[in-house]
Amino acid sequence: MRAFALDAFGQPGSVHDLPEPEPAEGQVRVRVAAASINPFDNAVLQGFLKDRMEHRFPLIPAGDLAGTVDALGPKASGFSVGDRVFGVTSKMVLGEGTLAELTTASTGSIAKYPGSVSDVEAAALPLAGVSALMSVEAAALNPNDVVVVVGASGGIGGYAVQLASARGAHVIGVTSNGNTEYVKSLGADEVINRMSGEVLEALKSKHSDGVASIIDTGSDAPALALLSEAVRKGGTVTSMKGAAAIEELAIRGIKGVNLRTQVTTERLEHLVGLMADGKLKAPRIRTFSLEQAGEAFKIIGEGGAHGKLVVKI
Ligand SMILES: NC(=O)c1ccc[n+]([C@@H]2O[C@H](COP(=O)([O-])OP(=O)(O)OC[C@H]3O[C@@H](n4cnc5c(N)ncnc54)[C@H](OP(=O)(O)O)[C@@H]3O)[C@@H](O)[C@H]2O)c1
Repeated sequence: MRAFALDAFGQPGSVHDLPEPEPAEGQVRVRVAAASINPFDNAVLQGFLKDRMEHRFPLIPAGDLAGTVDALGPKASGFSVGDRVFGVTSKMVLGEGTLAELTTASTGSIAKYPGSVSDVEAAALPLAGVSALMSVEAAALNPNDVVVVVGASGGIGGYAVQLASARGAHVIGVTSNGNTEYVKSLGADEVINRMSGEVLEALKSKHSDGVASIIDTGSDAPALALLSEAVRKGGTVTSMKGAAAIEELAIRGIKGVNLRTQVTTERLEHLVGLMADGKLKAPRIRTFSLEQAGEAFKIIGEGGAHGKLVVKI
């Protein structure tokens, strides 16, 4: 099968001809239609996780997928050959990824998607969409709560702004130059340009009683600690980057959450249901061919995605 793969860390990667994978127990094999790339996948290619997880070479990156079930492994229930499925592979080993004509995935981290959702839209959704869903749930938003989404133009942010807005929250998107109109189009009520360097001042002057929540996908720990000064007592600060100082926040009566995304069939079904009902739209998506996958990794490595990057297989 054709797959985008690397023979060593740090290489640009290229299209290889590799053996077809066989589904193990509890897995299905998927004929991949599209696969999206996340910042984590670029970290894998650079070797940042080499001491923490087993890697197999030639290394096929990425975990998000959308495609059609092609074969069932032993004890793989709930899916049939021919089902359109999307989700993540969910493997303990890195390198058996989704930038390939065929991949294998656990039945617990995929779900079916209807004809009204395209392959590209479904491929963009899994990790970023579930991260956004879990962030918004962690924020425990009530209608009219003011929530700040930092990284609103990003993969997770593109869904988080919409999901928070759908709960009736007043959403403030924090983004960089050139993304204001995009973030507004997702449903943000206000947008702050972080390049102004005055995000905290802007929040404090317009919301002097404090905001209810920060959902942060972009800040490091010092930046998030500073921004958290805008959160009122009883509020929440959720970080996708492990940047929330849980104990310090607790002293101020604020709940800090460092989220670890867990993609489950149930969460995927919930998200794709919203999409099919027209209540959640796809973020800005750029598509690439398998041959162009290296270009997509370059963009994500430079932090220039500002939306989702999807490889059409
Ligand atoms: N913990 C987990 O289980 C888990 C799961 C999934 C992802 N993640 C992590 O979550 C993060 C976000 O993922 P993603 O897919 O949304 O990434 P992304 O598409 O690259 O989006 C991140 C956004 O953050 C903004 N940003 C960049 N630098 C920033 C800074 N210094 N301060 C504030 N904002 C900044 C950028 O938007 P602007 O330039 O417009 O501001 C960018 O669009 C990544 O680090 C990823 O690895 C963690």
